[in-house]
Amino acid sequence: MSGQSVRRLPFLFSILATRIIPRYSKPANNFSKTVFGADLATQPNSVDPSSRLIIHDLAQRNGHADFARDIRRGLTSDPKHLFPKYLYDELGSRLFEAICQVDEYYLTRAEDEILTNHADEIVASTPNCKTLIELGSGSAEKTRKIIEALIQRRGELLFVPVDISTSALEESSHALLDSYSCLRIDAYAADYFQALEALPARDESPALVLFLGSNIGDVEQDEAIDFLRAIRRRLRKGDALLLGADLKKDRATLEAAYNDTLGVTRSFIVNELERINRELDANFDLWAFGLRSVYNESLGRVEVYLESLRQQSVVIRRLDLTTDFKAGERIHVENAYKFDLEDLRKIGEQTGFRLERTWLDRRGRFSSNLFRVSE
Ligand SMILES: C[S@@+](CC[C@H](N)C(=O)[O-])C[C@H]1O[C@@H](n2cnc3c(N)ncnc32)[C@H](O)[C@@H]1O
Repeated sequence: MSGQSVRRLPFLFSILATRIIPRYSKPANNFSKTVFGADLATQPNSVDPSSRLIIHDLAQRNGHADFARDIRRGLTSDPKHLFPKYLYDELGSRLFEAICQVDEYYLTRAEDEILTNHADEIVASTPNCKTLIELGSGSAEKTRKIIEALIQRRGELLFVPVDISTSALEESSHALLDSYSCLRIDAYAADYFQALEALPARDESPALVLFLGSNIGDVEQDEAIDFLRAIRRRLRKGDALLLGADLKKDRATLEAAYNDTLGVTRSFIVNELERINRELDANFDLWAFGLRSVYNESLGRVEVYLESLRQQSVVIRRLDLTTDFKAGERIHVENAYKFDLEDLRKIGEQTGFRLERTWLDRRGRFSSNLFRVSE
């Protein structure tokens, strides 16, 4: 984290963030090799960490131009909206890790419980798997359960994490390589679709793909279908996809999960306005927006909004744009779709997968679903 961004942190959030940082702090020798573009990785098999990590940094290409274009598009639409993928800058990734620790956000703990109890069965379903691919890997903390189970079976593993947040990818990769000397990492700092296109051809052994954290619920349903089809195109018969999906449940539990009393979720969401201030020279007053998370039961999704607490105008100098807000006007920031098992079976059928097995946590709140390539 740069000194400049540390200075911008309000006190509470600097505490939350620094509680998380030590787990991922980089070793003194920064040993990754960064590749700009989609070059194929060479993968020497050595215990020396410096030779076990390659990061393909595709996110840098056009990243700033895409951000500026999307922010203009979102804030000049009616109703206004922002794009959830821009929540995950360096600070945003850390704030998400803090969300995973608040009481109300049960998703991470429930999924972790499933992976802790069933990692062996999950990896046994894909015998001889030598490649683990994870989309939206974040801190990859829960992934450790699967990595350990695979290493126990085969003694070595290639892990291919994909995440739009370069900082999260770097920190998690360093932490994993420190923990597992027989792990190699070929990481992609990229948007999901960009990374799926860029992945090199694999050898004949089967692969397991992880898409955890109910990330599938963050996109519209037609995009989720396109996305699973894009994953399917990179897979072969025998390969499998483990999809973590949050289940439909009562309104109070769902709304609390996206509006915790500590205010960590609000900081995470408001951080996108701070990112616009920083990167596009804007003057959003962060205290002038409140978080509203509402469960839309008929659409089966939690809708997350920022609500303008007063009438105000915001100037975004780099876009040469002034945007006006009425008191009470909302900016839509993200949706979190919730599923039932029938929804998941149908999504699989539409995308070339067969839902083979589902595991639930003890309280039946969250599902981990093993999909097999079906044709
Ligand atoms: C909700 S977090 C989940 C992280 C982790 N998988 C977990 O279960 O805790 C979503 C992750 O996906 C990444 N992400 C969000 N949108 C993305 C996109 N369009 N392409 C690639 N990664 C993305 C974020 O940076 C973040 O690490």
